[in-house]
Amino acid sequence: MSKTRIAFIGAGNMAASLIGGLRAKGLDAAQIRASDPGAETRAKVNAEHGVEVLADNSDAIKGADVVVLAVKPQAMKAVCEAIRPSLKPNQLVVSIAAGITCASLNNWLGAQPIVRCMPNTPALVRQGVSGLFATAQVTTEQRQQAEELLSAVGIALWLNEEQQLDAVTAVSGSGPAYFFLLIEAMTAAGVKLGLPPETAAQLTLQTALGAAHMAVASDVDAAELRRRVTSPAGTTEAAIKSFQAGGFEALVEKALGAAAHRSAEMAEQLGQ
Ligand SMILES: NC(=O)c1ccc[n+]([C@@H]2O[C@H](COP(=O)([O-])OP(=O)(O)OC[C@H]3O[C@@H](n4cnc5c(N)ncnc54)[C@H](OP(=O)(O)O)[C@@H]3O)[C@@H](O)[C@H]2O)c1
Repeated sequence: MSKTRIAFIGAGNMAASLIGGLRAKGLDAAQIRASDPGAETRAKVNAEHGVEVLADNSDAIKGADVVVLAVKPQAMKAVCEAIRPSLKPNQLVVSIAAGITCASLNNWLGAQPIVRCMPNTPALVRQGVSGLFATAQVTTEQRQQAEELLSAVGIALWLNEEQQLDAVTAVSGSGPAYFFLLIEAMTAAGVKLGLPPETAAQLTLQTALGAAHMAVASDVDAAELRRRVTSPAGTTEAAIKSFQAGGFEALVEKALGAAAHRSAEMAEQLGQ
């Protein structure tokens, strides 16, 4: 990426965190350009990251090796159709928009090489995880560029089939909210058991962080880690049995199935 020039179309939350991550990895401000209709957004991103932020999308993509589409899915069709005449053949287009397929992007942009990504919100604190899918036109060098781009805000994992992005959306795209829900529920339960709310919240948050760190660092899987902390007839076993009696695993499967189904449905609607 030492010489790669990157243009961001849309300079909102996700683009700003990618720009911040790239700058922290040593990319020069002159290698990055962005565009956004909001004067305030343009001034903010310029002040925070030192990059040029233009009002015109077509100006921003001039000379870029990689064009990152970082607008809301609903704006994507109009944005793509407007920049189409300004794109150079073989200029890599990376889309981070949820639910916009490569086929729709190719319809709107022409035959550009495309990498479609599904990042998640922890990218905002550089702890994200993204699923990436590349169309056949994408070269090895361009795959590398897309991977390095998304790696600036977390880890990036390649997928062999575009359809798997619906599953990625269900697991990691929507995933942070499932953990927030569990944090809310555990905090509320702690309060019911007699803890002050602030204490219950701190205990829950540090437990979530500690468990995630342990699971990431461990050479055994989560099921084994759970078995190791679950003594027969102990307190953890009492809780786990209660979760399982309530159908916990089946409920998680159903919830993620609903998210994946909705992702596929939205892709169909947004691709019109
Ligand atoms: N945030 C996440 O965690 C997350 C996770 C996965 C995927 N994504 C995807 O990332 C994309 C961006 O999300 P975000 O959270 O960064 O949204 P955002 O903060 O709303 O950023 C989008 C930016 O694009 C600007 N914009 C609107 N129309 C434009 C146009 N025609 N040309 C150029 N810029 C335009 C918006 O300006 P205005 O506000 O003035 O309209 C806004 O500043 C979305 O497609 C979303 O699906 C986000």
